[in-house]
Amino acid sequence: MGWNSWNHFAGHIDDKTVRAAADAMASSGMKAAGYQYIVIDDTWAGKRDDQGFIHPNEKFPDMKALADYVHSKGLKLGIYSSPGPRTCAGYEGSLGHEEQDAQTYANWGMDYLKYDWCQSGGTVEQMEAAYTKMHDALVKTGRPIVFSLCQYGWHKVWEWGASVGGNLWRTTGDISDRYFSMADIGFDQNGLEKFAGPGHWNDPDMLEVGNGGMSEDEYRTHMSLWAILAAPLMAGNDLGEMTPYTVELLTNPEVIAVDQDPLGKQGYRIAQEGPFEVWMKPMADGSKVVGLFNRQRTTEQMSVNFSDIGISGAATVRDLWMKKDLGGFRDKFSAYVPMHGVVLVRIKVQ
Ligand code: GLA
Repeated sequence: MGWNSWNHFAGHIDDKTVRAAADAMASSGMKAAGYQYIVIDDTWAGKRDDQGFIHPNEKFPDMKALADYVHSKGLKLGIYSSPGPRTCAGYEGSLGHEEQDAQTYANWGMDYLKYDWCQSGGTVEQMEAAYTKMHDALVKTGRPIVFSLCQYGWHKVWEWGASVGGNLWRTTGDISDRYFSMADIGFDQNGLEKFAGPGHWNDPDMLEVGNGGMSEDEYRTHMSLWAILAAPLMAGNDLGEMTPYTVELLTNPEVIAVDQDPLGKQGYRIAQEGPFEVWMKPMADGSKVVGLFNRQRTTEQMSVNFSDIGISGAATVRDLWMKKDLGGFRDKFSAYVPMHGVVLVRIKVQ
């Protein structure tokens, strides 16, 4: 769980923006809810010196001081590079400098690296070799650094991401702040659940919650679906400018508990009728979290049959967004679900 600069700020980031994000994460309730990593995405890199060591550009005068600042808030700092010669925004990549760059990041105090395959093409063997090279270089530094693979899901990265040392890997192209982008990506994750587990996760991209392009119900769908998917929760909004609703969406403890459940099972679709999808995530305590998702443009009544989630007879149902026990139900649970919205419940045998 954390925050990444790209979705909201893209190239408009600097030392000040990142410090402000850390301040806001610490003071807004995000840190208390479990968010921890502040990740500087593309456009920080400057030039290499005569010995080949990378330096940040003028936007980041002192990376070590920035990392010290973020750490002083009880948070962690991450950075971004590419296995090729250039990053996706055309900045210096790590090709041929993997060990030097890993050591530089470790010296600065980085705790996370997003490593983004930006050159077009490449065989699966080339990708595996490039990611393994950086993974080995990170390990060699002796500093624990989360390794985030980013390469748009080419070559079924979920099949080999863990074997090259990835802690998470992007399974999709870039998300945008629109319902149809988010929904296409999120609902398309079905079937990838067997590749995720503790320490190695599918990554359907960063959150757009709070960026303004979706309705409240659509953002609630976004959070609910990512939680059911056990997806990395990397906020992508301006943490310094959050409405109370955005804070509530990002920090609801019962929804975060779904995402972070220790069993580490990625949820999946258990029923679908056209635009109505029912998803389920098994939890460590034996309960089942169910999302009734309505992808249609009108409110509709939807149901989950307990037999589809391995429950026979009676069970109690709690609404995780309303934070309310709805009582005991037998055989099925039904609810009205708004347009592009969700009803997210936790179902437990008594
Ligand atoms: C790619 C990635 C994005 C972001 C940009 C930066 O598009 O998928 O998440 O890192 O590069 O240029």
